[in-house]
Amino acid sequence: MAIHKSLSLAFLLFFLPFLSSSHATISSATAGLPEAEALLKWKASLSPAQVLHSWSLPATNASTNTVSPCKWTGISCNSLGSVTEISLPSAGLQGKLDNLSFPSFPNLIHLNLSGNTLIGTIPAHIGTLYKLMSLDLSANSISGSIPLDIGNLVNLNELDLSINHLDASIPSTLGNLSNLSILYLDQNRISGSIPPQIGNLKDLVQLSLFQNNLTGPIPPALGSIPSTLGNLSNLSILYLHQNRISGSIPPQIGNLKDLVQLSLFQNNLTGPIPPALGNLRNLTLLLVYRNQISGSIPPQFGNLTNLDNLDLSNNSLTVLFLRNSGI
Ligand SMILES: *[C@@H]1O[C@H](CO)[C@@H](O)[C@H](O)[C@H]1NC(C)=O
Ligand SMILES: *[C@@H]1O[C@H](CO)[C@@H](O)[C@H](O)[C@H]1NC(C)=O
Ligand SMILES: *[C@@H]1O[C@H](CO)[C@@H](O)[C@H](O)[C@H]1NC(C)=O
Ligand SMILES: *[C@@H]1O[C@H](CO)[C@@H](O)[C@H](O)[C@H]1NC(C)=O
Ligand SMILES: *[C@@H]1O[C@H](CO)[C@@H](O)[C@H](O)[C@H]1NC(C)=O
Ligand SMILES: *[C@@H]1O[C@H](CO)[C@@H](O)[C@H](O)[C@H]1NC(C)=O
Ligand SMILES: *[C@@H]1O[C@H](CO)[C@@H](O)[C@H](O)[C@H]1NC(C)=O
Ligand SMILES: *[C@@H]1O[C@H](CO)[C@@H](O)[C@H](O)[C@H]1NC(C)=O
Repeated sequence: MAIHKSLSLAFLLFFLPFLSSSHATISSATAGLPEAEALLKWKASLSPAQVLHSWSLPATNASTNTVSPCKWTGISCNSLGSVTEISLPSAGLQGKLDNLSFPSFPNLIHLNLSGNTLIGTIPAHIGTLYKLMSLDLSANSISGSIPLDIGNLVNLNELDLSINHLDASIPSTLGNLSNLSILYLDQNRISGSIPPQIGNLKDLVQLSLFQNNLTGPIPPALGSIPSTLGNLSNLSILYLHQNRISGSIPPQIGNLKDLVQLSLFQNNLTGPIPPALGNLRNLTLLLVYRNQISGSIPPQFGNLTNLDNLDLSNNSLTVLFLRNSGI
């Protein structure tokens, strides 16, 4: 799933003046040099890409410290000439993600490499990007596990690793990312159960884990956790469909008062529909079809006056009164 946000790239890189011999630009050149080297090393490891044409050293002076990557396509810098953004979505990049040396970018705030053909794994040293606020590696062919060290990126607001070949389980360290508002891990091969630590992410607005190989129950912690931490009271989207999630729907989900879309279809859920779901008055979409839910539809569902997409079909419910379309 893509984040629909207008691209703020805006070629900020062109606003930065060319390097001259002033004091400020000497320090900028010094800051930019290891970063330029790391980018060039990555470029050299990728298949030739037209979009990286500007990523090159000046014809002469290649060995002096007057090299800055700040005007290169997809790169933005701070006033000291250190790289703060690498934004190359859908740029036709082909090669290994792990050939990009993350420790070389101590000031990186935004990294967007979505929609390329990157392979390889997410290296553990991604955990050195302490300032990172958004990380989008979606729609590539990245494999392997999500490194535990991703839990070091405590300033992350958005984490999108969807549509890759990631496997293994969701690291519990994700629960350390207390500023996270968007977490998309959908359309991978992630297995294991959903770590209850996800319940620590009290600023979470969108949680999308659909089309993976997740097992185990929906952690009640998503809806109710120790009061010091607070509920996921901002969650508006929860997509867990098309996994192998089992157990019953925790009544605590009924605490997620801001929930607008709840999608649980095609799992192995059993037990009844908790009457507490009737508290979710903002729900417009509720998809629970193709599970093994039993019992009857709680009368509290009459409160869900904003629902315009409800599907409870293909369960073991005693009464089935509605069937609308899927997502
Ligand atoms: C990355 O870039 C794509 C394409 O412009 C955009 O849709 C997406 O929202 C960006 N990701 C983030 C986290 O901003
Ligand atoms: C890319 O990284 C791999 C290790 O993952 C390494 O063996 C290879 O030499 C690197 N390639 C380049 C061109 O740096
Ligand atoms: C190379 O450096 C010299 C002296 O520092 C400068 O005069 C010249 O313009 C530079 N050339 C390029 C291509 O940057
Ligand atoms: C999280 O966000 C808040 C406010 O937006 C900020 O003050 C804080 O430094 C951020 N980082 C962490 C690790 O909480
Ligand atoms: C990060 O999360 C792990 C697992 O939940 C926890 O053991 C660890 O103490 C956390 N680290 C920090 C710095 O909060
Ligand atoms: C899901 O996991 C099971 C083992 O737990 C494995 O046999 C199966 O191939 C996995 N499916 C996918 C799509 O990864
Ligand atoms: C979460 O909701 C609270 C009020 O319920 C609000 O103050 C806060 O700004 C919200 N956080 C986000 C990330 O939307
Ligand atoms: C969590 O939600 C429940 C039910 O809405 C509420 O009683 C409780 O006070 C909430 N806890 C916090 C910390 O907001």
